Amino acid sequence: MRLEIVQTGDPVLRRRAAPIEPRDLDKPFLQELLVSMEQTMREAPGVGLAAPQVGEGLQAFVMGDDERVSQLMSPARLAELERQPFATQVVINPVLEPLDAETVEFFEGCLSVSGFQALVPRWRRVRLRGLDATGAALDWTLTGWPARIAQHEFDHLQGILYLDRMVSRTFTTNANLGRYWKARPAADIRAVVE
Ligand code: CO
Repeated sequence: MRLEIVQTGDPVLRRRAAPIEPRDLDKPFLQELLVSMEQTMREAPGVGLAAPQVGEGLQAFVMGDDERVSQLMSPARLAELERQPFATQVVINPVLEPLDAETVEFFEGCLSVSGFQALVPRWRRVRLRGLDATGAALDWTLTGWPARIAQHEFDHLQGILYLDRMVSRTFTTNANLGRYWKARPAADIRAVVE
């Protein structure tokens, strides 16, 4: 079932999500929620969706990057973003840590801040641990765009939006991103707006 995605200003986006009891993963409510979150993310379309975005204050998110976006971008741009398709994954009760101090800045948006993007610094390499939809342990080392997605979704579970981390002077509508800023290096963009 396709779910409604709540927009910024809804208090559920600002609350810390509650951990899920692994034994509850068998329950129809949770299984249906996770399947519906995947469908909602795919149809939006988006590359990540956290439970608070559909009004549920639970520590669960889905992330996945299918071929559709990759086909619209040049190989050089994909390489710059370190973006490659990966299968949709459910992540429950995540723990996330940076693997080193390196950060990268790219434009990022959010399905709950519809129509806008901004430059957001993120760790380039992270370790993501948690459970999958069956309750099995998950332990991923992520680099580049998948690491960015994981950090964005993990933040949702802490009540944090990219708005709290963005270079605020780069905040733009999607239309103006395409018109003025798309694919320019972060340093150039900062030089223009700062
Ligand atoms: Co988001």
